[in-house]
Amino acid sequence: MSSQLTAAEREQLLEAARQAQERAYAPYSKFYVGAAVLTSQGRIFTGCNVENASYGLTICAERSAIFTAVEQTRGPLALRAVAVVNRAQLPCSPCGACRQVIAEFGRDVAVIYQGKNGFEESNIDDLLPESFRLS
Ligand code: THU
Repeated sequence: MSSQLTAAEREQLLEAARQAQERAYAPYSKFYVGAAVLTSQGRIFTGCNVENASYGLTICAERSAIFTAVEQTRGPLALRAVAVVNRAQLPCSPCGACRQVIAEFGRDVAVIYQGKNGFEESNIDDLLPESFRLS
């Protein structure tokens, strides 16, 4: 699939995700993740994973970034892209829960993540076909 982002936009988003990853709180898994989202208004919001001693309370970097974008955006949020990085540089595409949350905010969202051979870009509709919708 051809990229929906310019090379500069993609690099800016990855750099924002890397900076957020520096602030990840992951003392249990030691898997430090950062994410950045680009909105239709051209703004970038970031998030990191935040773990808890009660493991199930952990939030992924992607959802952390998206929830901040919701809170900071006047009017309905539409996502253009989501980028996710991890300190270990291991293959890491968004988990199922995060895919469902990304899909909530657009059908044509570019998702950039570490694959087996460098960064890959997919569309959320390909990563989560038949996502749940109430309308
Ligand atoms: N994690 C993310 O933040 N994003 C992903 O895409 C995959 C997993 C976090 C959750 C947890 O803190 C740690 O990585 C290990 O699963």
